[in-house]
Amino acid sequence: MGQNLIFTNDVQAAIDRLTNDSDHNLTVWIADVNTARLMPAPAHFITIPDGDENKTLATVTRVWDEMERMGATRRSLVINLGGGMVTDLGGFAAATFKRGVRFINVPTTLLGAVDAAVGGKTGFNYHGLKNEIGTFAPASDVIISTRFFDTLPVEEMKSGYAEVLKHAMLSNRDEFLRLLDHDFNAPIDHDDLLERLRRSVQVKVDIVARDPNEQGERKALNLGHTIGHALESLAMKREKPVPHGYAVAWGLVTETILSHIRLQFPSEDVHRLGHFVRDNYRGFPFTCDDYDELLALMRHDKKSRNGEITCTLLTSIGDYRIDQAVTPDDITAALDILRDHLGL
Ligand code: GLY
Repeated sequence: MGQNLIFTNDVQAAIDRLTNDSDHNLTVWIADVNTARLMPAPAHFITIPDGDENKTLATVTRVWDEMERMGATRRSLVINLGGGMVTDLGGFAAATFKRGVRFINVPTTLLGAVDAAVGGKTGFNYHGLKNEIGTFAPASDVIISTRFFDTLPVEEMKSGYAEVLKHAMLSNRDEFLRLLDHDFNAPIDHDDLLERLRRSVQVKVDIVARDPNEQGERKALNLGHTIGHALESLAMKREKPVPHGYAVAWGLVTETILSHIRLQFPSEDVHRLGHFVRDNYRGFPFTCDDYDELLALMRHDKKSRNGEITCTLLTSIGDYRIDQAVTPDDITAALDILRDHLGL
């Protein structure tokens, strides 16, 4: 999956270079109501509503309609400017319009830069299920920058940081320990963060290059997500949504506890991660009364097989095992320990 990744804080220059070099007849920008303000307004701009509840077929249809109205053809170029919602949905709309138009992703959130914009997953929610319809279609280029992050709410930075942590947990203990030594209240050091992003995104790129369509190894990138998605879905069902990365952070702790139970993952690293998550990812809204519903959500996850709950687990930081079956008893024990770690 050849994707050209550009790490820069001069986004305009990178876009100018890419658009001047490319032989396209029209550039269409897709952004949401917030991100549309982030770059000087070009001529052909499609603005979609923000929020996961608008990541729907109706919004995709609106994008196709607008592209048609603007006279887009297969030789046009789409630039998606926004967070995961924009790059997922805009990528899907571009990848399917007239059987596929080249598109560039310009993620504006940390979560988008480190995960959603890279690796070719596109799609939208359907019948209440997240990303139920979609296709693997990589952006030709991804421009990764920290320049949009100064105005991001701290919750949004923390949310993306959970995926940065995940990548370190899959690859490198020194990086994992460095990441735990982070103060979200300190001003952003753009050069340092851009370098961290470069290392973090490379972990994903290497895994996706070996398994672009998630037949095997790419499932490693679901570390923290079997539990995390269930927590996120339950919070959404209760109409008390939590940021994706918060659920992933709680999922990462729970899955390292499961890794300890099943694969002797070292307990000192469970504790280190647990402390960091307790200090930075507050607001865990669940009790033991929710366990049955959480288990049901895990059994219905599109990644589970025949109702068996599987996770990516670790023997140690950097050494992962995909498709590990875990029992409901293991999970409830791990959730109990998670709640201890979070001081609940
Ligand atoms: N977000 C995980 C992946 O792209 O596979």
